[in-house]
Amino acid sequence: MKRVVILISGRGSNMAALLAAMRTGQLVATAAGVISNRPDAAGLALAAGQSVPRAVVDHRRFADREAFERALIAAIDTLTPDLVVMAGFMRIVSAAFVEHYAGRLINIHPSLLPAYPGLNTHRRALADGVKIHGCTVHFVTASVDQGPIIVQGAVAVHDGDTEATLAARVLEVEHRILVSAVRWFCADQLVSGRHGVRVSSAVVDEAAMTVPVAD
Ligand code: GRF
Repeated sequence: MKRVVILISGRGSNMAALLAAMRTGQLVATAAGVISNRPDAAGLALAAGQSVPRAVVDHRRFADREAFERALIAAIDTLTPDLVVMAGFMRIVSAAFVEHYAGRLINIHPSLLPAYPGLNTHRRALADGVKIHGCTVHFVTASVDQGPIIVQGAVAVHDGDTEATLAARVLEVEHRILVSAVRWFCADQLVSGRHGVRVSSAVVDEAAMTVPVAD
């Protein structure tokens, strides 16, 4: 069974979605451990409740990124992962870190990349008046939020949305697509396709989403 290490920085709802899917057998994988760069991350308590090994590598205790990443890599590698998932891990990682985990490091990002890389994605989407927004799971490369896309999920933007309501709608989809991506990775179903990553087993829903729907 493939071993998955989950990196978090805060709430940990994406991590919780993965752990729940493993518990129910929807995702056949072992939670090798959860690592946070913040000692006060709420997600750590969630993982503790499920007896998943936990560690903290507090970036503030290191002189520079290199020293932090050395410690982070040591903590991750102790858990011998097949896959490392950045699930709300709010640190930018270096090219050396990415290289160390080449092909086995994925990230969940709350936008339809390549739109809105970086922070405050929901605020920026609302400011632009886009009608469709969403989230992306992608392999991590040295260019932030630009690695090969595995799966995306879209939601409609409502006229009355605030940053919070839009974030909540996207988050629910994040949980679903992250579980799918990890499941495909663990079943060796991610292959190279003509346009980046292809999922060998997946079905594409041809129904186009238009927002608003024509009357
Ligand atoms: C998610 O929206 C994730 O995409 C973003 O930060 C949020 C983390 O949420 N990078 P959680 O910690 O998984 O609840």
